[in-house]
Amino acid sequence: MKIIKLKLKSKSYPIYIQQGSITKAGNLLARLKIGKDAVIITNSYLKRKFGIQIQNSLTRCGISSKFYTAPDSEKAKSIQYCLNLIDKISKYDNKKQIFLVALGGGVVGDLTGFIASIYKRGVPYIQIPTTLLAQVDSSIGGKTAIDLKVAKNLVGAFHQPKAVIVDPGLLKSLSERQLRSGLAEVIKYAIIKDKFLFNFLKNNYKKVFCLNKKAVELIEERCIAIKAQVVERDEQEKKGIRTILNFGHTIGHAIEAAAGYHKYSHGEAISIGMACATEISYNLKLIKENKLKQIINLIRLYKLPTQFKGIALNKIMNSLVRDKKFIQVRNKFVLPAAIGRVTIKNNIPEIIIRKTILRHLI
Ligand code: GLY
Repeated sequence: MKIIKLKLKSKSYPIYIQQGSITKAGNLLARLKIGKDAVIITNSYLKRKFGIQIQNSLTRCGISSKFYTAPDSEKAKSIQYCLNLIDKISKYDNKKQIFLVALGGGVVGDLTGFIASIYKRGVPYIQIPTTLLAQVDSSIGGKTAIDLKVAKNLVGAFHQPKAVIVDPGLLKSLSERQLRSGLAEVIKYAIIKDKFLFNFLKNNYKKVFCLNKKAVELIEERCIAIKAQVVERDEQEKKGIRTILNFGHTIGHAIEAAAGYHKYSHGEAISIGMACATEISYNLKLIKENKLKQIINLIRLYKLPTQFKGIALNKIMNSLVRDKKFIQVRNKFVLPAAIGRVTIKNNIPEIIIRKTILRHLI
């Protein structure tokens, strides 16, 4: 089993990566000594599909388990839903040594992490991510949040998990769209930090897309290692280092918000965002045309969108200015400076942003 350790002094934790690792969850968690009673937050599909395997593994190691299922959508991240769930957990948690388990994608991970951060002023939790996006990105790093009506992820806390169990075998249960969405984050990691990964993705489309065991392990290990290194250097996003993870997310989030979070998946929106940011970089003469083409071609190779339709430019611009990431600056963009290297630029003239977005609107 590959173990990547995310080093944050007393908050350090292991990230276990192995096909079939969910069947070893009991052993892995018993060793951590974080509690005897697991509260597993998941959705009903994942409970049916993987619940028994995980439960059996925990039972064998003397850990009890109780499942709560959440809707498989952003609805699960509403304050109301979150408070209801906390209420249920508190009624169950009588003389127990509980810890929470997030079994799911980004929504379940964010919700579970947030509840773990506030319930009894903080209880341990672990992540068992089931989507590619969650396995390479959102399950790691300790940012947890729920939504307000005005914006996503507005109420949150930093609360690191005690462990992350990544089982690449779970990806077989994903739809093609979910898989592509996760591959958008993989492409992001390649562009910001890993030229080798970029070339690997370019030359191994079939293997990656068919979830070839070796190819998936390679891309997961490389993305997770990058995420862990970035979080180690800037856990709470105070030094500007974590900002590079937002490549493609500035315009991507604005498109998601302007489209009402239904039309484009997160990965699709950030693919368009990465294409726009790369074009801005080219317009500012930070990268050459051949690199712009290579990046756009890789996004397209994985059949991810670089253009969008049906959203008014002004709606996107309004979402952009509401972005909570812009404090003290008009805007902040992570822009590619080479394949595997990015730079951060503030206050890009609005006319460049508008023209770029318009070029991607069909
Ligand atoms: N939980 C996602 C992150 O910390 O980046």
